[in-house]
Amino acid sequence: MKVFVVYCHPSKDSFTKNMCDAFVKGITDSGNEYVISDLYEMHFDPVMREEEYLRDAYYRNTPDLCEDVLAEQAKINESDAIAFVYPVFWTEAPAMLVGWFDRVWTYGFAYGNRTMKVLDKAVILCSAGNSLEYLEETGLLESMKKVMLEDRLKDRAEKKDFIVFDCTAREYELRSENWERYMKKAYETGLCFFSQEDGGAE
Ligand SMILES: Cc1cc2nc3c(=O)[nH]c(=O)nc-3n(C[C@H](O)[C@H](O)[C@H](O)COP(=O)(O)O)c2cc1C
Repeated sequence: MKVFVVYCHPSKDSFTKNMCDAFVKGITDSGNEYVISDLYEMHFDPVMREEEYLRDAYYRNTPDLCEDVLAEQAKINESDAIAFVYPVFWTEAPAMLVGWFDRVWTYGFAYGNRTMKVLDKAVILCSAGNSLEYLEETGLLESMKKVMLEDRLKDRAEKKDFIVFDCTAREYELRSENWERYMKKAYETGLCFFSQEDGGAE
């Protein structure tokens, strides 16, 4: 089984990079495969062009899609599952990943007369500076989950999960206190990806 990992963080010196590495190690240790799009490393262009906008807005199949978009769509249709790994920036995914959805989720692929396969599973692993309690109390967690699970993923995957690694901002001591536990959780999420409903999620 193959997982397509869409990873987005501007720096290798980050909790999120370590979390992503632990997750993919879990995938390979379980005998499964992965393919990764490291959006910053690829210099993925997240800016929708006017012709792309017009194509999507008018539900057209022309002009032909750009090579970089086709490559991402091929990775989806050649995989069994998808995982998004990113830090929360202003209660959203980083702009580069938001732009990835703008450009890759095209008319005729992700909506309209779709050619995108329905994936077995989709998982979001995101790091957040704030505590889970705060994100729940303020309704911000619900907003993030709704956008990712109910709009972007919707019925495009059979099973969906949203895992938050909270209190990971550098200013919190909890970041280092939780580090090993969180890396284990990310690893186990990869390890159990295809064998268990909730993987390493708590
Ligand atoms: C520009 C920016 C915006 C951020 N916005 C939020 C936010 O809205 N909510 C939150 O919980 N954390 C926020 N954070 C904290 C990040 O999620 C942080 O990167 C995360 O704790 C993981 O650490 P890492 O960058 O070392 O991977 C923000 C960080 C930055 C740099």
